[in-house]
Amino acid sequence: MIKPVTGHSLMLACDHGYFMGPTRKLENPRKTIEPLLPYADTLAVTRGVLRSSIDPKWDTPILLRVSGGASILKEDLSDEEITTSMKEAARLNVAAVAISIFVGTSHEKQSLINLAKLVDDGYEYGMPVVAITAVGKELEKRDAKYLALACRLAAEIGAQIVKTYYCDNFSKVVNGTPVPLVVAGGPKLNSEVDIFNLVYNALEAGAVGVDMGRNIWQSDNPIATIKAIRALVHENATVKEAIQVFEENKKEDLRRVESTTRV
Ligand code: 5RP
Repeated sequence: MIKPVTGHSLMLACDHGYFMGPTRKLENPRKTIEPLLPYADTLAVTRGVLRSSIDPKWDTPILLRVSGGASILKEDLSDEEITTSMKEAARLNVAAVAISIFVGTSHEKQSLINLAKLVDDGYEYGMPVVAITAVGKELEKRDAKYLALACRLAAEIGAQIVKTYYCDNFSKVVNGTPVPLVVAGGPKLNSEVDIFNLVYNALEAGAVGVDMGRNIWQSDNPIATIKAIRALVHENATVKEAIQVFEENKKEDLRRVESTTRV
Protein backbone atom coordinates (compact mmCIF):
# COMPACT_ATOMS: atom_id res chain seq x y z
CA MET A 1 0.00 0.00 0.00
CA ILE A 2 2.91 2.34 0.75
CA LYS A 3 5.04 2.49 -2.39
CA PRO A 4 8.61 1.51 -1.49
CA VAL A 5 10.18 3.84 -4.08
CA THR A 6 8.68 7.04 -2.64
CA GLY A 7 7.66 5.83 0.82
CA HIS A 8 4.30 7.47 0.12
CA SER A 9 0.78 6.37 -0.65
CA LEU A 10 -2.32 7.63 -2.41
CA MET A 11 -5.34 5.76 -1.10
CA LEU A 12 -8.73 6.44 -2.68
CA ALA A 13 -11.45 6.43 -0.01
CA CYS A 14 -14.83 5.19 -1.27
CA ASP A 15 -16.23 3.60 1.91
CA HIS A 16 -18.57 6.45 2.91
CA GLY A 17 -21.74 4.51 2.07
CA TYR A 18 -21.31 2.30 5.14
CA PHE A 19 -22.90 5.01 7.29
CA MET A 20 -23.80 7.83 4.83
CA GLY A 21 -25.71 5.75 2.26
CA PRO A 22 -25.58 6.88 -1.38
CA THR A 23 -23.27 9.83 -0.86
CA ARG A 24 -23.31 12.51 -3.58
CA LYS A 25 -21.32 11.35 -6.62
CA LEU A 26 -20.77 7.92 -5.06
CA GLU A 27 -24.33 6.78 -5.77
CA ASN A 28 -23.04 4.31 -8.33
CA PRO A 29 -19.72 3.14 -6.86
CA ARG A 30 -18.51 1.33 -9.97
CA LYS A 31 -19.03 4.38 -12.19
CA THR A 32 -17.20 6.67 -9.76
CA ILE A 33 -14.34 4.33 -8.94
CA GLU A 34 -13.40 2.82 -12.34
CA PRO A 35 -11.88 5.93 -14.00
CA LEU A 36 -9.91 6.85 -10.87
CA LEU A 37 -8.40 3.44 -10.13
CA PRO A 38 -5.36 3.76 -12.42
CA TYR A 39 -4.15 6.63 -10.22
CA ALA A 40 -4.78 5.08 -6.79
CA ASP A 41 -2.26 2.92 -4.91
CA THR A 42 -5.06 1.48 -2.77
CA LEU A 43 -8.86 1.53 -2.86
CA ALA A 44 -10.80 1.76 0.42
CA VAL A 45 -14.24 0.12 0.27
CA THR A 46 -16.59 -2.15 2.21
CA ARG A 47 -17.07 -5.80 1.31
CA GLY A 48 -20.50 -5.00 -0.18
CA VAL A 49 -19.00 -2.61 -2.71
CA LEU A 50 -16.01 -4.88 -3.26
CA ARG A 51 -18.25 -7.83 -4.10
CA SER A 52 -20.84 -5.90 -6.12
CA SER A 53 -18.92 -3.18 -7.91
CA ILE A 54 -15.22 -3.94 -8.19
CA ASP A 55 -14.16 -6.03 -11.14
CA PRO A 56 -11.74 -8.77 -10.04
CA LYS A 57 -9.53 -7.90 -13.01
CA TRP A 58 -8.81 -4.50 -11.48
CA ASP A 59 -5.76 -5.31 -9.39
CA THR A 60 -5.49 -2.25 -7.12
CA PRO A 61 -4.82 -3.35 -3.50
CA ILE A 62 -7.91 -3.10 -1.30
CA LEU A 63 -8.21 -1.50 2.12
CA LEU A 64 -11.35 -3.13 3.50
CA ARG A 65 -13.54 -1.14 5.90
CA VAL A 66 -14.60 -3.64 8.58
CA SER A 67 -16.32 -1.43 11.16
CA GLY A 68 -19.87 -0.10 11.11
CA GLY A 69 -23.28 -0.32 12.74
CA ALA A 70 -24.28 3.37 12.86
CA SER A 71 -25.90 5.66 10.30
CA ILE A 72 -26.15 9.40 9.74
CA LEU A 73 -29.71 9.26 11.09
CA LYS A 74 -28.24 8.88 14.57
CA GLU A 75 -26.77 11.86 16.41
CA ASP A 76 -23.99 9.67 17.83
CA LEU A 77 -22.05 7.84 15.12
CA SER A 78 -19.60 6.23 17.51
CA ASP A 79 -21.56 3.04 18.29
CA GLU A 80 -19.64 0.78 15.91
CA GLU A 81 -18.75 -2.91 15.97
CA ILE A 82 -16.67 -5.07 13.69
CA THR A 83 -18.88 -5.88 10.70
CA THR A 84 -16.63 -8.13 8.64
CA SER A 85 -14.56 -11.03 9.94
CA MET A 86 -10.83 -11.43 9.42
CA LYS A 87 -11.58 -14.74 7.67
CA GLU A 88 -13.75 -12.88 5.15
CA ALA A 89 -11.05 -10.22 4.67
CA ALA A 90 -8.52 -12.99 3.95
CA ARG A 91 -10.99 -14.70 1.58
CA LEU A 92 -11.37 -11.39 -0.29
CA ASN A 93 -7.58 -11.20 -0.55
CA VAL A 94 -7.40 -7.60 0.68
CA ALA A 95 -4.18 -5.78 1.54
CA ALA A 96 -5.35 -4.41 4.90
CA VAL A 97 -8.45 -3.77 7.00
CA ALA A 98 -9.69 -0.43 8.37
CA ILE A 99 -11.65 0.40 11.51
CA SER A 100 -12.76 3.68 13.08
CA ILE A 101 -12.00 4.61 16.67
CA PHE A 102 -13.98 7.28 18.52
CA VAL A 103 -11.77 8.71 21.25
CA GLY A 104 -13.58 10.84 23.81
CA THR A 105 -17.06 9.61 22.90
CA SER A 106 -19.54 7.47 24.81
CA HIS A 107 -18.25 4.47 22.82
CA GLU A 108 -14.55 5.21 23.25
CA LYS A 109 -13.75 1.95 25.08
CA GLN A 110 -15.84 -0.17 22.71
CA SER A 111 -14.11 1.24 19.64
CA LEU A 112 -10.63 0.85 21.16
CA ILE A 113 -11.32 -2.76 22.16
CA ASN A 114 -12.67 -3.39 18.64
CA LEU A 115 -9.32 -2.12 17.34
CA ALA A 116 -7.36 -4.27 19.79
CA LYS A 117 -9.27 -7.41 18.76
CA LEU A 118 -8.80 -6.61 15.09
CA VAL A 119 -5.05 -6.17 15.55
CA ASP A 120 -4.85 -9.52 17.38
CA ASP A 121 -6.83 -11.22 14.59
CA GLY A 122 -4.69 -9.41 12.03
CA TYR A 123 -1.53 -10.99 13.41
CA GLU A 124 -3.18 -14.44 13.11
CA TYR A 125 -3.77 -13.81 9.41
CA GLY A 126 -0.85 -11.52 8.50
CA MET A 127 -3.28 -8.67 7.86
CA PRO A 128 -2.28 -5.05 8.62
CA VAL A 129 -4.81 -2.81 10.37
CA VAL A 130 -5.49 0.85 9.59
CA ALA A 131 -7.09 2.77 12.48
CA ILE A 132 -9.17 5.80 11.55
CA THR A 133 -9.48 8.53 14.16
CA ALA A 134 -13.11 9.34 13.44
CA VAL A 135 -14.83 12.43 14.84
CA GLY A 136 -18.41 11.69 13.76
CA LYS A 137 -20.37 14.90 13.34
CA GLU A 138 -18.05 16.85 15.65
CA LEU A 139 -15.74 18.24 12.97
CA GLU A 140 -14.44 20.90 15.38
CA LYS A 141 -12.56 18.12 17.19
CA ARG A 142 -9.97 18.15 14.42
CA ASP A 143 -7.22 19.98 16.32
CA ALA A 144 -3.68 18.86 17.06
CA LYS A 145 -4.27 18.16 20.75
CA TYR A 146 -7.20 15.82 20.12
CA LEU A 147 -5.77 14.16 17.02
CA ALA A 148 -2.36 13.59 18.63
CA LEU A 149 -4.11 11.81 21.49
CA ALA A 150 -6.34 9.70 19.23
CA CYS A 151 -3.50 8.76 16.84
CA ARG A 152 -1.18 7.81 19.69
CA LEU A 153 -3.84 5.59 21.26
CA ALA A 154 -4.35 3.85 17.91
CA ALA A 155 -0.61 3.24 17.50
CA GLU A 156 -0.20 2.03 21.09
CA ILE A 157 -3.00 -0.51 20.61
CA GLY A 158 -1.16 -1.80 17.56
CA ALA A 159 -2.56 -0.23 14.38
CA GLN A 160 0.09 -0.50 11.68
CA ILE A 161 -1.11 2.66 9.89
CA VAL A 162 -3.22 5.51 11.29
CA LYS A 163 -5.55 7.65 9.24
CA THR A 164 -6.45 11.03 10.62
CA TYR A 165 -7.27 14.60 9.62
CA TYR A 166 -4.84 17.36 8.74
CA CYS A 167 -4.86 20.25 11.22
CA ASP A 168 -2.80 23.29 12.27
CA ASN A 169 0.40 22.17 14.02
CA PHE A 170 0.07 18.77 12.34
CA SER A 171 3.71 17.94 13.12
CA LYS A 172 2.61 17.52 16.78
CA VAL A 173 0.34 14.71 15.58
CA VAL A 174 3.06 13.14 13.40
CA ASN A 175 5.74 13.37 16.09
CA GLY A 176 3.57 11.64 18.69
CA THR A 177 2.57 8.75 16.40
CA PRO A 178 5.24 6.07 15.94
CA VAL A 179 3.59 4.50 12.85
CA PRO A 180 2.86 5.92 9.37
CA LEU A 181 0.05 8.47 9.14
CA VAL A 182 -2.23 9.23 6.20
CA VAL A 183 -4.73 12.07 6.06
CA ALA A 184 -8.37 12.12 4.99
CA GLY A 185 -9.70 15.09 3.07
CA GLY A 186 -12.94 15.59 5.01
CA PRO A 187 -15.95 17.37 3.48
CA LYS A 188 -15.42 19.02 0.09
CA LEU A 189 -13.15 22.08 0.30
CA ASN A 190 -13.80 25.33 -1.56
CA SER A 191 -11.14 25.01 -4.25
CA GLU A 192 -8.51 22.72 -5.76
CA VAL A 193 -5.81 25.00 -4.32
CA ASP A 194 -7.16 24.31 -0.82
CA ILE A 195 -6.99 20.55 -1.45
CA PHE A 196 -3.45 20.71 -2.86
CA ASN A 197 -2.30 22.91 0.05
CA LEU A 198 -3.74 20.41 2.53
CA VAL A 199 -1.93 17.50 0.87
CA TYR A 200 1.34 19.43 0.47
CA ASN A 201 1.35 20.61 4.10
CA ALA A 202 0.45 17.16 5.44
CA LEU A 203 3.37 15.59 3.51
CA GLU A 204 5.73 18.35 4.59
CA ALA A 205 4.80 17.65 8.23
CA GLY A 206 5.57 13.94 7.78
CA ALA A 207 2.38 12.20 6.65
CA VAL A 208 3.12 9.30 4.28
CA GLY A 209 0.16 10.17 2.11
CA VAL A 210 -3.58 10.50 1.85
CA ASP A 211 -6.67 8.36 2.08
CA MET A 212 -8.97 10.81 0.39
CA GLY A 213 -12.46 10.61 -1.03
CA ARG A 214 -14.93 13.47 -1.41
CA ASN A 215 -12.40 16.08 -2.47
CA ILE A 216 -11.51 13.79 -5.38
CA TRP A 217 -14.74 12.20 -6.57
CA GLN A 218 -17.07 15.10 -5.71
CA SER A 219 -14.88 17.35 -7.86
CA ASP A 220 -16.12 18.37 -11.31
CA ASN A 221 -12.67 17.24 -12.48
CA PRO A 222 -11.94 14.06 -10.52
CA ILE A 223 -9.26 12.67 -12.85
CA ALA A 224 -7.36 15.96 -12.98
CA THR A 225 -7.63 16.24 -9.20
CA ILE A 226 -6.32 12.75 -8.43
CA LYS A 227 -3.48 13.16 -10.93
CA ALA A 228 -2.45 16.43 -9.27
CA ILE A 229 -2.59 14.80 -5.82
CA ARG A 230 -0.48 11.96 -7.21
CA ALA A 231 2.15 14.45 -8.30
CA LEU A 232 2.24 15.89 -4.76
CA VAL A 233 2.37 12.46 -3.11
CA HIS A 234 4.83 10.67 -5.39
CA GLU A 235 6.73 13.32 -7.34
CA ASN A 236 7.46 15.93 -4.67
CA ALA A 237 5.42 18.47 -6.67
CA THR A 238 4.83 21.92 -5.24
CA VAL A 239 1.30 23.30 -5.02
CA LYS A 240 2.03 25.42 -8.10
CA GLU A 241 3.11 22.30 -10.03
CA ALA A 242 0.04 20.41 -8.81
CA ILE A 243 -2.18 23.19 -10.17
CA GLN A 244 -0.36 22.87 -13.49
CA VAL A 245 -0.99 19.09 -13.57
CA PHE A 246 -4.64 19.77 -12.70
CA GLU A 247 -5.05 22.32 -15.51
CA GLU A 248 -3.31 20.06 -18.04
CA ASN A 249 -5.61 17.13 -17.22
CA LYS A 250 -8.97 18.87 -17.05
CA LYS A 251 -9.64 17.97 -20.68
CA GLU A 252 -9.40 14.27 -19.77
CA ASP A 253 -12.39 14.72 -17.42
CA LEU A 254 -14.20 16.62 -20.16
CA ARG A 255 -13.55 13.83 -22.70
CA ARG A 256 -14.90 11.30 -20.21
CA VAL A 257 -18.09 13.30 -19.58
CA GLU A 258 -18.62 13.69 -23.34
CA SER A 259 -18.11 9.99 -24.02
CA THR A 260 -20.55 8.94 -21.27
CA THR A 261 -23.25 11.42 -22.33
CA ARG A 262 -22.99 10.65 -26.08
CA VAL A 263 -25.97 8.65 -27.46
C1 5RP B 1 -15.53 7.33 5.83
C2 5RP B 1 -14.09 7.47 5.90
C3 5RP B 1 -13.46 8.06 4.73
O1 5RP B 1 -12.75 7.03 4.10
C4 5RP B 1 -12.54 9.19 5.10
O2 5RP B 1 -13.23 10.19 5.77
C5 5RP B 1 -11.82 9.74 3.87
O3 5RP B 1 -12.68 10.32 3.00
P1 5RP B 1 -12.82 11.89 2.84
O4 5RP B 1 -11.54 12.35 2.19
O5 5RP B 1 -14.02 12.04 1.96
O6 5RP B 1 -12.99 12.49 4.21
O7 5RP B 1 -13.43 7.05 6.82
O8 5RP B 1 -15.94 7.02 7.08
